[in-house]
Amino acid sequence: MKQKTWEDHFSRKAKKENFPARSVYKLQEIRKKFRIIKKGDVILDLGCSPGSWLVYAADMVGPEGVVVGLDLKPVEIAVPPNVKVLTGDVAENGIDLLNSLDLQYNIILSDMAPATTGRKDIDSYRSLLLCRVALEIAESFLLPEGCFVCKIFQGPDFKEFSDTVKNLFKEQKTFKPQSSRKASKEIYVIGIGKK
Ligand SMILES: C[S@@+](CC[C@H](N)C(=O)[O-])C[C@H]1O[C@@H](n2cnc3c(N)ncnc32)[C@H](O)[C@@H]1O
Repeated sequence: MKQKTWEDHFSRKAKKENFPARSVYKLQEIRKKFRIIKKGDVILDLGCSPGSWLVYAADMVGPEGVVVGLDLKPVEIAVPPNVKVLTGDVAENGIDLLNSLDLQYNIILSDMAPATTGRKDIDSYRSLLLCRVALEIAESFLLPEGCFVCKIFQGPDFKEFSDTVKNLFKEQKTFKPQSSRKASKEIYVIGIGKK
C-alpha cells in the first residue's frame, strides 16, 4: 500500500508538471546535490526515452546549451529546439552515431536500464554491461573536468565499476535519490571532474 502511495505521488507530480516520466525527479535531486548542469552546458543523455531528463536538462542548459539523447526507443514527445535525439543501441552503433555529431560534452548522463527479468543477478549484470559502455563513451566524448552520472543496479561487480570511475575522475560519489524506490537496487555512480 505504501509503495502505491509513493508511485502515485511522483507519477501525479510528473503528469502535472508535463514530464513524460517521474524519473525526472531523480535528476533534479542529483543536480541540486552535486551542483551540476549549468547554462550553456553540452549534455549527452544515454537511455533518454521517454524524455523527461531531456526536457529538464534542456531547460537547465538554456538556449545556448545543447542536449543530445540516445535510446533504443524513439522519443515520442515534442522536444525543445536545443535537443537532438538519436535512435540506436549504445553498444552496437552508439559510437558511430555520436561521431556523426562531432561534439564533446560537459556532462554525460546514463539512466539506461536493461529490460528486467526479475532475476537480480541477471539484471545487475546487464546493467553493469550498459554502465561499462556508458563509461567508455565518457572516456572518448567527455571534456576534461566534465561530469558523469550513471545508474547501476547494484550487484557483485558494483565496487569494481565505482572504483573504475574513481580512477578516471577527481571525485567519485554514489547517490540514491529520495525519488528512487527503496526496494529498487538502482543507485547512481557519479564522477566529478574528469582527469
Ligand atoms: C529508465 S529509462 C530512462 C528514462 C529517462 N531518463 C527519462 O527520464 O525519460 C531507461 C532507458 O534505457 C534505454 N536503454 C536500455 N538499453 C539500451 C541500449 N543498449 N542502448 C540505448 N538505450 C538503452 C531503454 O530503452 C529505456 O528507454
